Amino acid sequence: RKPMSLQRLLDMHASGDKIAMLTCYDAAFATLLDEAGVDVLLIGDSLGNVLQGQSSTVPVTLEEMVYHTRCVARGRKSAWIIGDLPFDSYQASTAEAWKSAAALVKAGAHMVKLEGGGWTAPVVRYLVERGIPVCAHLGFTPQTVTALGGYKVQGRDEASAALLKKHAQELADAGAQMLVIEMIPAALAAELTQSLAIPVIGIGAGVGCSGQVLVLHDMLDVTPGRRPRFVKNFMQGASSVQDAVRRYVSEVKAQTFPQDDLHGY
Ligand code: KIV
Ligand code: NA
Repeated sequence: RKPMSLQRLLDMHASGDKIAMLTCYDAAFATLLDEAGVDVLLIGDSLGNVLQGQSSTVPVTLEEMVYHTRCVARGRKSAWIIGDLPFDSYQASTAEAWKSAAALVKAGAHMVKLEGGGWTAPVVRYLVERGIPVCAHLGFTPQTVTALGGYKVQGRDEASAALLKKHAQELADAGAQMLVIEMIPAALAAELTQSLAIPVIGIGAGVGCSGQVLVLHDMLDVTPGRRPRFVKNFMQGASSVQDAVRRYVSEVKAQTFPQDDLHGY
């Protein structure tokens, strides 16, 4: 495969070619996912939950994100690599955000992701102007789960849907070149995807997005305990981990995953 590029991701959004993204935290899975056709590898701060056993992503440090980004970058062949900026690495100032984002880029990330709308637009602009591509993350934002009052679908009422749309447009105007939306109604997600010129990657946001992302351990059915409704177990009926990941990629591309009645809101 040719190395994935920002332009190609923008073209995929424009042409309606679906983007398959999964979280990834180490070199072995980076190679496996890449060879199975995953377009984008996200070193998610969800590693706090799935690798570290923490109850939220809040305790994850920048150093830990740098370490896992390095591991993924070594195993990657052609996928686009996004590194999550963890909690308390970009909130205090634009200068702090720059230092944190640059650390992830030095570790091998092609793009960094940060959570939230409104106050984040100037931060995004600051990073993008200085040469670091940024992915925004709206809807349910795990780093602020306490402030949001728990794991809840976002943008359900008219006022919060309007605010979400406003924030998404502001982030795109500030130069964000991708947007992740988590746990929002499928209709709102489809509307956002249609209205923006950048790829919108959904998780619990319906099939009308430019692509999908899931936490690797969730879709491989490795995560202990209850899983959110938007997760599908791709190991079911699969002959190997490789086969499960290939099925995920082909279902995302064919738009047979997610199914709005099963995995959506
Ligand atoms: O950390 C993560 O895994 C994420 C995805 C769920 C979007 O941010
Ligand atoms: Na994350």
